[in-house]
Parts: sequence; structure tokens; C-alpha cells
Amino acid sequence: MNQPVDPTLIDFNDEDSNRSANPHFSQVLDARLSRRSLLRGGFGGATTAVLGTGLLAACGSDDPVAPPAPAPAPAPAPAPSPIVTRLGFGAVNKSLADLVTVPAGYTATILYALGDPLRAATPAYKNDGTDADFENRAGDHHDGMEWFGLSSTGTPSTTAADRGLLAMNHEATTDETRASFFIHATGGTATLPRPVDETDKEMALHGVSVVEIRKTGTAWSYLRDSSYNFRIVPTTEIDIAGPLRGNALAITKYSPTGTVTRGTINNCGTGKTPWGTFVTGEENWSGYFFRVATDNTVRGNDKSVTSLNRYGRAQGAASRHGWETASADDRHMRFNISRSGVSVDGSDDYRHEMNLQGYIVEIDPYTKTKKAVKRSALGRFAHESAAFSIPVVGQPIAAYMGDDSRNEYIYKFVSTAVWSAADATPTDRLATGAKYLDQGKLFVAKFNADGSGQWIELSMTNATVRDYTGYPFADQADICVNARLAGDAVGATKMDRPEWCSVNPKNGEVYFALTNNSNRRVDPTGGSQLVPDSANPRAYSDIRGGTSTNSGNPNGHILRLKEGTGGASATAFTWDIYVFAAETSAATGTVNLSNLTGDQDMSSPDGLAFSPTTGICWIQTDDGAYTDVTNCMMLAAIPGQVGDGAKRTLSYARSGGGTLTVDTYVGATPTADNLKRFLVGPKDCEITGIADTPDGKALFVNIQHPGEGTRMADVTDPTKYTSQWPSNAGYGAGKRPRSATIVITKNDGGVIGS
Ligand code: FEO
Ligand code: CA
Ligand code: CA
Repeated sequence: MNQPVDPTLIDFNDEDSNRSANPHFSQVLDARLSRRSLLRGGFGGATTAVLGTGLLAACGSDDPVAPPAPAPAPAPAPAPSPIVTRLGFGAVNKSLADLVTVPAGYTATILYALGDPLRAATPAYKNDGTDADFENRAGDHHDGMEWFGLSSTGTPSTTAADRGLLAMNHEATTDETRASFFIHATGGTATLPRPVDETDKEMALHGVSVVEIRKTGTAWSYLRDSSYNFRIVPTTEIDIAGPLRGNALAITKYSPTGTVTRGTINNCGTGKTPWGTFVTGEENWSGYFFRVATDNTVRGNDKSVTSLNRYGRAQGAASRHGWETASADDRHMRFNISRSGVSVDGSDDYRHEMNLQGYIVEIDPYTKTKKAVKRSALGRFAHESAAFSIPVVGQPIAAYMGDDSRNEYIYKFVSTAVWSAADATPTDRLATGAKYLDQGKLFVAKFNADGSGQWIELSMTNATVRDYTGYPFADQADICVNARLAGDAVGATKMDRPEWCSVNPKNGEVYFALTNNSNRRVDPTGGSQLVPDSANPRAYSDIRGGTSTNSGNPNGHILRLKEGTGGASATAFTWDIYVFAAETSAATGTVNLSNLTGDQDMSSPDGLAFSPTTGICWIQTDDGAYTDVTNCMMLAAIPGQVGDGAKRTLSYARSGGGTLTVDTYVGATPTADNLKRFLVGPKDCEITGIADTPDGKALFVNIQHPGEGTRMADVTDPTKYTSQWPSNAGYGAGKRPRSATIVITKNDGGVIGS
């Protein structure tokens, strides 16, 4: 949800807690180095895409022999070669229709929707609010998703293209005033205390699912009775790894040793590690917790209060669902994170419980009996995807990550271990994850006005962090748990809501979707409002529906960076803006800076991932600004590289007189061949989740929360649903809208996007 349906309702997806006084404006006004010389120095190593002939031959024919997989990280590795160099489909028009639209010559098929059973014993989904057993069904709000191939004998395969597992996030539920109303017969109970049965159903809609899918002939389907299927829900035990394991900040009544916790909640973006596991980012978890109004005093106003405030949980904060009120049972009480016990260490209450959400969680999708692991070394914030550097033998692995809240930061983790080619196909995948993700350095990004940037280390060896007066860090675990505070300490750049990131397999450059930011103002009025800066340079007003106005940076942009010397372990980089999202009719001098046409215009990019097979960068929107004209969408892009465009200087008239001048760097103007709209979704949905098969011939996409604008009071009246998808497309019982995975294929059996 990008904009609340009703402005009086709280949007738990748009948390805003950064009150640090990081320098911004100074960056804008600082002396500007010569961009030209900077770029010349930075681009010497840029590579040009070269087509692998073997790959072309395999994909250009109907030869049933499986094409080669993307290069499995050889050393020193040329990246896998993309096979789509020109987008060959006709652009899809913007649309307000309640259906999924794909280009002519393509077919979208619904594969796996909210409530679909994951075992034979669970009944078919009735979709009328009376269903149960959600621990054995697809969860709600399908989000990030990755493909994991299976050979014909059921072993992990990097080349299989007709049998595999989809691992996906179930981010949240469509709710109003606490209740996830579409899964309760008459909408559920909005008042406190929440009933136990409603609470347990709502909890089980969250987490992750892994589901087997197969292609039979040309048709894809999911396997209801596959032994590979499983769910992770908020009651599933999960290991804590990295600096936080056994630390004082991890001690709870459930785990006095601070080594385990339960569940993963509000999972948004995903990633696939170079060693073949699934990683999921915990995003807006803060809103699920409750604190009593007197908790600061009870805590003795210790430093935990600073931490809780910085992560959006001031005392008295109400929880999104009120689950903590359902019963005195531990599984519900844990969502009350007030200090209630008498222990000094927190082993008799859940005062530390919120320290255990907010991580990149690693899961072995092939082995449901193995516990998932929270990789605390990668920091705690509102995680989206984790994108990994192209592995190079003998070099560290980098994981790139964004913190999706207004004015939050971009991070990178660099492993201590260096890459070994044998780790591309390990026997123990989670042990390999421990090798690369439990020891290393965490960095935060600072973007300069001259097109350069720095990665600043967040550790006790950095005196600026160690001696920070805003929060006394105790150790590396404290820094990871409070990564936002460490970022504040070093003056990291406040961004316009970093969503997904992805690494271009062609050249290793890292793309970040910055979805929007209502806090950018030419003349800030205090609080958390910020002036535009070079990496977040727009502040304007967008008219929606001829009436309401969105101000700030309502349409978002996509930033990319190129690592400097050292590659994954570099501490300096160059950057530019690949594309500014905008309406095509917006002024090209101030808003539509990328000159987007009507086949390319978009608002609020969110999901973003390069296909490792085709090299296409898929861009998905979660928008509330352009939805008067079009439902959310997905675009295909074949971007160039950092520095392929030009410097632009934006001038803003200030209300008190004078001019604010901001330099920025706009990527090459997209062409009709390298950026165009591929899909438009049904009403009130977000498009998210991107995965494809290694032959590039099947693309999996998630349609999240169709019909979320429906009001709880109308839950039993289908004529008032703002969407009836997917039942209106012939899928499943009932008319209540359902989040679902779709598979897109080309009618001629070809490569998607070609
Ligand atoms: Fe769940 Fe930041 O989108
Ligand atoms: Ca508009
Ligand atoms: Ca997202």
C-alpha cells in the first residue's frame, strides 16, 4: 500500500522515524569536481555485452535440450551474457481494467493464490471467510519470489527449466482497523481484544511459502501434494546468527540464551545467494508491536528507548493487528514489547523482542527440515531485497540492501570470506551462508553532489560510530541492531525510500529503486522534511485525479552505482540516476527528466530485478500517484551504464527568495527498444516478485493485494469490491480478491521479452 485509502487510516508501510541532523544541504552546495574527469577515471573497466553463441543457439531454436545455465560464478568471471539486446514486444497501454494485461503474443496464467492448499489433506479454498488451516495454505500478499530448479529426480538443479520451487514472501494482509477482513466471514473484529481464532488465522497468512511447480506440455501448475512444499509462519522457530547470536540484546523469555526466535514478518523483497539459497527481507515489522504508554519510565529511560523511537515504536504505539491482546499465551503476548518483568537481562519478558525482527533471513528452499537463519551481520532495518555482487574467486562477496522508509539509507555488507567456486554448488547450503554472511563489514552509503560516493564502515573501529553521542554502542551486535543510528552517526545520505536493488549481470552495477518521498521540499517546514539533493533531486507537485495533490518526489527514481577500485569491497563508487519515473505529460525540464513516452511512463518503482538469463531489468510499481490513470505495472528495461547520460542542474525558487541549485546526473534517455511497459495489473494491486526459468521462457510475477481499496464494511457485498481478480479471470471459488502468482509465457515458446 503506497497511499492510505482513507487519509485517517495509518499506513504501516510508510514509517518515518529519521530525525537525525545529517548534513544534506552542504553536499548540494559543496564545490563540484569535474564530472567529466571523474567519469573518465571510473569507466576504464566497464565491459560491453558480448553474446555467448552457445546460449543464442540454444534459445533461438525449439531444441528440447536444456540451454546452459547462467555462468556458475567461474573465476575471474565474465558475467553471464544477456540474450535479449532489444525488446521485441509491443508496449502495453496504461489501463484501469480489472485484469492482467500482457503484450500481444504472450499469455499470463494464474498459478498460486492466497489460500491454495499446500498438502492433499487441506481442503480447497472456499474464499468466503470460513477457511482454516492457513499454516498449510498459500499466505497473503505474495511479494518477492525466487526460482530454485529441480532435476527430474528431485535434486537441486541450476539448469532445470520445467520443474522447480518458487520461494516467496507473504508480506501482509489487506486490513482495516486491525482486521484482515477478507479472510473473516463478516470482516472480523476491529475492537480489542482480538479473538484468538482471528489472530491465529491472520498470523498464519504471514511469512514465506515454498511451493513446487511443474510444466506439463506448455502448461504450468503448482503441486498441491508435493513433499517439497512448506510454510514459515510467525510461530516457526528461527536461528539467530552473526554478531547478535547470544548477545544481551537477543535475550527473551523464549530464548534466555539469545540464540533463537520465532517467525519472520512483513517480508518484502527477496534475493538468491550465489550458493543457491533464498533470502527474504523483513520490512515493516515495527508496526506489529505494542508498547504501553509508560514504558519509557519503566525502562528507566535507558538507551533502548532511543532505539525503539528510531525504529518507529514510541511508547504508547498501537500495533497493526492487536495480536498481543488475543490471549495470555506466549505466542500472542510476545507482540507486547513493554518491559514487564523484573529481570535485569530481559529473560522474563519480551522487552527485546523487536530486536529480533528486521533482518535478511536465509532459507534453504530445498530442505524444509532445516531452520531458517536471521543473518544479523547485515543489519536491522526495513529490509527489501538483498542483491549479491557477481562472485569472483578469491574476492569477497558483497550484499547490497536498502532501508525502505522515508529518509532512510542504502547499505552494503562485505564478507570476510573470499569466494570459492566450489561454493556455487555446496552440499550444506546454510553452512555456506554462515561462511559468507556471518562475518564481514557493514557499510552505509553517502552520495556526493559531484557524482561520487563513499561506503562508510559501521563498526567500533570507526571512531565516529564508537564515540557517537546520540547512542552509546556497546559492540558490533548493538551496531547491527541499531544500524539506522550508526548511519545517523556517520552522516549517511537520506534517500527517497530505497526499495529493491539488483546487480546488472552484464557489468556488476547496482540498481536501487527509490520509490517516492513525500518529505522532499524546496522549503522544508521542519520535522523530517528535506531539501532535494543530488541523489534525490526532485521536489514537485503531482495532481491526482484533477483534485488531490502529492508533493515531494511522488513518482520516484532509479539510482545506480558503479563500484570503484576493489569491486565488491570498494569504499568509493560513482553513481547516476538511470531513470526518473514520471508521467509523460510532466514537464521535461523539471519532472520528466528522462523524457519518458506514453509507452514508458511510470510512477513509484518498487520491485526491480535483472534476469540472470536474459539480462532484462524488470521494473514493477507500487503506486498511489498515477493510479487515477493506470493500475500498477511492470516494465522491461535494457539499461546502459553509469555515466551514459549527462549532468543536469535543477533550479528551485525558494519562497523566501533566492534559488536552490541541485546538480544531478541523468542516464541516457531511454529508447523505444530499451524501455517499455510489459504488463498492467488489476485494480488496487501492486506488481511485485520477479523470477524466471534458466531458459528465459517462463516469467513468474506476483499480483499483490488486488482490491485493497475495498472497505471492511463491504466485505460481504462483492458488487462493492474494487477488484474481483482473480475470480473474474476464472480462477478459484468466491469473488473476494486474492493475491496470486502468475506465470507469463510467449505463445511461440520463445524467450520472454525477445
Ligand atoms: Fe513492501 Fe517497501 O515494499
Ligand atoms: Ca497525476
Ligand atoms: Ca516493496
